[in-house]
Amino acid sequence: MKTTKVTIHTLQTMKQHGERIAMLTAYDATFARLLDEAGADILLVGDSLGMVIQGHETTLPVTLDEMIYHCRAVARGARRAQIVGDMPFGSYQASIDQGLAAAARMIKEGGAHAVKLEGGAQHAELVRRLVAMGIPVMGHIGLTPQSFHQMGGFKVQGREPGGRQRLLDDALALADAGAYAIVLEGIPSEIAREITAAVGVPTIGIGAGAGCDGQVLVCYDLLGMDDTFKPKFVRRYEQLSVRIRTAVQSYVDDVRSGAFPSAQESFALDPAGAAAAPDAKVYSTVAGKP
Ligand code: KIV
Repeated sequence: MKTTKVTIHTLQTMKQHGERIAMLTAYDATFARLLDEAGADILLVGDSLGMVIQGHETTLPVTLDEMIYHCRAVARGARRAQIVGDMPFGSYQASIDQGLAAAARMIKEGGAHAVKLEGGAQHAELVRRLVAMGIPVMGHIGLTPQSFHQMGGFKVQGREPGGRQRLLDDALALADAGAYAIVLEGIPSEIAREITAAVGVPTIGIGAGAGCDGQVLVCYDLLGMDDTFKPKFVRRYEQLSVRIRTAVQSYVDDVRSGAFPSAQESFALDPAGAAAAPDAKVYSTVAGKP
């Protein structure tokens, strides 16, 4: 298992050596620990939490305070992975100063190692200033969910006349401003491949084909937490929605029938003959030890 912490330099070296980067979203400490132990290079505390955690239709309602709260939880769970905090809608679009202050909070209070923001050339100056301040920035172009209303929904981007050039210009502007990586979301594979060859920094694709330097998925999608949601670009590695329902149904049945808890799962007044000592802890991290 790799243990050295992932930094922006690690990611740059991975691109140079043709090693693919595996990024996933994470929103809490338990998932962060599991994804980190499984080898994810980057944990993105995505504003997708507005949809998968909070149950909103879009990412738009998520606040900066909420993002910081989740970043802090993920930072406590991860050891090796780089932690990227997503700048939520309305936290950086109003002015450069607003963006600088919000990003500083993500790092200082949230414990993120870098921030991600949506948009291309229009945010180049903000990216430049953040990098000058010492904050690594990941760009995000193509399908940018914070522009949901402007795009008229979650649609593939870049197919329109001039779309390919616009995306290429945006990627080059971000890289030139100092972004250390760029997420390419919901764009044709051919354009993603061209951008990946044109920019010196790693590209991380989601619905952008195999030609990127890395891939990112929302961890709940990869794990199949919602059986009603399966976009074309998602590969489900698990069907946790089914497994969780089955497990919980068994628990409910056992509670109703009285099969849970058993004597082994209960405390006796006099533990003689049992493994428990009088001062046994109620919570133990070792299975089977009371
Ligand atoms: O918010 C998010 O999870 C994201 C990824 C899907 C790239 O921005």
